[in-house]
Amino acid sequence: MHPILINAVKAARRAGGIITRASQDVGSLKVRSKTYNDFVSEVDHAAEAAILDVLKDAYPTHGFIGEETGNDNIDAENVWIIDPLDGTTNFLHGFPQYSISIALMQQGQLTQAVVYDPNRNDLFTATRGRGAFLNDKRIRVSNRAKLQESIIGTGFPFRDFSHLDTYMGMFKDMVRKTSGLRRPGSAALDLAYVAAGYFDGFWEIGLSKWDIAAGALLIQEAGGIVGDFEGNESWIESGNIVAGNPKVFSQMLQTLAPHLTDSLRSKPV
Ligand code: IPD
Ligand code: CA
Ligand code: CA
Ligand code: CA
Repeated sequence: MHPILINAVKAARRAGGIITRASQDVGSLKVRSKTYNDFVSEVDHAAEAAILDVLKDAYPTHGFIGEETGNDNIDAENVWIIDPLDGTTNFLHGFPQYSISIALMQQGQLTQAVVYDPNRNDLFTATRGRGAFLNDKRIRVSNRAKLQESIIGTGFPFRDFSHLDTYMGMFKDMVRKTSGLRRPGSAALDLAYVAAGYFDGFWEIGLSKWDIAAGALLIQEAGGIVGDFEGNESWIESGNIVAGNPKVFSQMLQTLAPHLTDSLRSKPV
């Protein structure tokens, strides 16, 4: 394993330990709502602190973007992008589908990725140019050729409803044109599932960098494609993301195309 990835894995497993211990008694946690339907608990903060502890100790000159602590030194050549607990709503309900997501961006390019599922002890990792792995096994995207036979992951709008009607239009078409849709509730893990070939594709509107950075590199290293809703590069900035194996990816773009409003189209990067 790449030496930098070893540190990222150590950080993810530490956060996993904190989250798993806390999951025994979620009822007693202090929870705050950031905005409508957007919750954060003391566990999100503790997990992020543990990750930053490991990575800042190993890489004091690097920059950090963390969901809960914000930006630190982000003009550095190396910037870590961290979601300490992806799927907080699931976690707070005891629904065992959430993950830790850590990615490294080096000079604007994603180079290392970890998505860790502490419930299944599934560790998804990738290093640019060296493939994607689940635990010690190499993973590849599925080779399913038809959208009609595919299972597609997605995320429903739940706190910002400005694109809800657009999303429902997309959703109806996807329901008709696929074998089924799934909404597990942790975008980072959903993307890891595309990399592993469990899902043939995924789309969601308006995610954040920390939800998608690690999962996207996993998919690219597993032979899949990641794009915005027109198949271009602006996905990391806009969070409007489509991903899949190459054949399903292009059929998803065709299915989404009639629903695109101006604000969902590609932006220059
Ligand atoms: C959320 C999850 C969810 C997605 C949301 C994200 P959080 O992350 O990834 O699947 O639909 O848009 O915000 O807030 O639980 O880290
Ligand atoms: Ca959150
Ligand atoms: Ca998240
Ligand atoms: Ca989070």
